Formats: sequence, structure tokens, C-alpha cells
Amino acid sequence: MQNRGWTSWSISTGPLDGLWQEPETALKHRNTEPQSSPIRILIISTSLKPVQSRSRIMARVVESLLGQEPPEGDNAARAAECRWLDLRQHPLPFCDADAYANDANVQEVKKLVAWADGVVIAVPIYNYDGSAAAKNLIEVTGDAWNDKVVAFVCAAGGSHSYMAPMGLANSLMLDFRSVIVPRFVYASGGSFEGDTLTDDVIKTRLDNLAQTLVAMTRALRDGGVV
Ligand SMILES: Cc1cc2nc3c(=O)[nH]c(=O)nc-3n(C[C@H](O)[C@H](O)[C@H](O)COP(=O)(O)O)c2cc1C
Repeated sequence: MQNRGWTSWSISTGPLDGLWQEPETALKHRNTEPQSSPIRILIISTSLKPVQSRSRIMARVVESLLGQEPPEGDNAARAAECRWLDLRQHPLPFCDADAYANDANVQEVKKLVAWADGVVIAVPIYNYDGSAAAKNLIEVTGDAWNDKVVAFVCAAGGSHSYMAPMGLANSLMLDFRSVIVPRFVYASGGSFEGDTLTDDVIKTRLDNLAQTLVAMTRALRDGGVV
């Protein structure tokens, strides 16, 4: 069985660093990258819906925004290198706290998450919460999320579940010290026509999210914080 590192803790450290921190978990300024290297962003679509997934459509919009040429006067250090991960193409086993770690898809997905400096996770809202597939992704990839900067994009049927991503966000913060971008983009059915995101307010929010994610990731990584 894998030791994920938390079994011996009396309480998760993360945001409580300084209160419960043990010496071996002391914060390390682990930035070894040259400051000019591009920010690495992984965009994860967690919806397993075969067609017209709204969270996937939003994730593709973020991907295209991140792929745009930097504005004039910007330098290469501001560029983001993006990769795309669609969970439909990497079916993951449920976390059984044991054999899942040997699964080839788990290993591949874990490598992709570990590669990234920042992650956009696009999540369907089910039962007033992030989908089980998104939670399971976090369970099976575990400490690959350590110190990532994470931005949430959510699709829901209605407007009432807007706090749904908090469970996943809390889990990432407490277990892996992920830094959560304090902008969630949440869209419901009325923002789409078929396969197209038609809501300009949501498009603007996605643009703001993409910019904030890159800026936060660059500042935290190049400042040696994550
Ligand atoms: C099992 C299930 C539970 C759902 N629960 C909620 C919910 O609690 N709140 C909500 O606003 N929408 C809910 N929905 C609607 C989905 O959030 C909506 O279909 C959304 O588009 C799903 O994302 P996707 O299109 O990317 O798969 C639910 C849908 C399903 C299938």
C-alpha cells in the first residue's frame, strides 16, 4: 500500500504551517527553474459526458485564451506552455488505497499533473458538489498536486450550486498545499447554445481567470514560494 504521507499526521499541515509543522515537512523554497522558463499549465477536463460537456467547452475556451500570443511588449517569460488532459481518454480506476497506483493511466495522469506549475480543473457539478470523477482524480494522483496553483472552472445545471467547488478546493489546500486562485468561473445552462459558450460575461471571467492563474503561478514559482 502506498504511504501518502498523511497517515502519521495528527492534523494536516498546509495552511497551519508553523503550528503543527514537523521538521521534515518544513517549507522548502524549491524553485530551481530559470526565471525565464515558461509557466507550465495543465488544463484538465474531468467531465465524462460523451458530448456537449459544458465544463469541457469552458476548458477549451481557457486553452485557447492561454494559447494566444502575449500582448506586445510582453516577453517570453510571461508565456505559458499548455497541455490538455481529458479524463475520458484516460479512464481512471476508483481509488482503492492500494492497487490503483499501478494503473498505467493513473501513472500517466500523475506525471502530467506533476509536470505542471499551474492547473485549470474543469468540473461538472453533481449533487451540490464537484463530480466524483474529479474527486477520484485527486485521490489517485495525490501528492502530484503538491504546491500547484489551481484554478476552477465549473458547469452546473442552475445557479444555486455556486459554492460546490469549495470541497475540492479545501481538499487540495489541506492535503497538498495547493494554492487556489480566488476566482471560480461558474456557468449554468443559459450561458450555452449547443456546443458554444455564448455568454460574454462568462467569457470575460474565463479570460480573467486565465490571466490571474498565469500571473499568480509566475509570481509564486519565480518568487520561490511554490
Ligand atoms: C447526477 C447529476 C447531478 C447533478 N447535480 C447538480 C447540482 O447539484 N446542481 C446543479 O446546478 N446542477 C446539477 N447537475 C447538472 C450538471 O451540473 C450539468 O449538467 C453540467 O452541465 C454538468 O457538466 P458537464 O456538462 O461538463 O458534464 C447534475 C447533473 C447530474 C447528471
